[in-house]
Amino acid sequence: MTPTGALRNDHDVLRSKLALLEGLLPLGHAARFPMREFTYSISRLLRRHMEQETRVLSRLRAMESPRLLAPTSALLDEHQDQRLTATLLLDLLLRGSDAPMDHIVLCASHLIEGSREHMAREETEVFPLIDEFHEHPVMQPSSRLHAARVN
Ligand SMILES: [Fe+2]
Ligand SMILES: [Fe+2]
Repeated sequence: MTPTGALRNDHDVLRSKLALLEGLLPLGHAARFPMREFTYSISRLLRRHMEQETRVLSRLRAMESPRLLAPTSALLDEHQDQRLTATLLLDLLLRGSDAPMDHIVLCASHLIEGSREHMAREETEVFPLIDEFHEHPVMQPSSRLHAARVN
């Protein structure tokens, strides 16, 4: 499996769960309970996935290559947005019938669309770079420091 294999598998699972959540939205209040369950499950998976991804992206950023810094910065900012949106949606769904359904639909749609776009960009712009760096490792900053001390 490539270094991004597990991350790509997570994306497949996330896409399935997001599609199930999306399918519940037209059902309105009647589907509030399963919406809450899916959102909770998505939120848990997102948190674990993003922790793993942040570790990988941080290692990549430590290489200080200009072609990595911009795309990885944007992705890390979006992680923050996804975390906040998932938390807000869960809060709305926990409020019972107090929360207006149009707010729930708006928030869920933002999470669903944002996550899909985010994952597509990761898969096309950044995952290939991670796999490429794994195939052809460059000198790590710590090695450069060591080399500088030796020289
Ligand atoms: Fe991500
Ligand atoms: Fe991801």
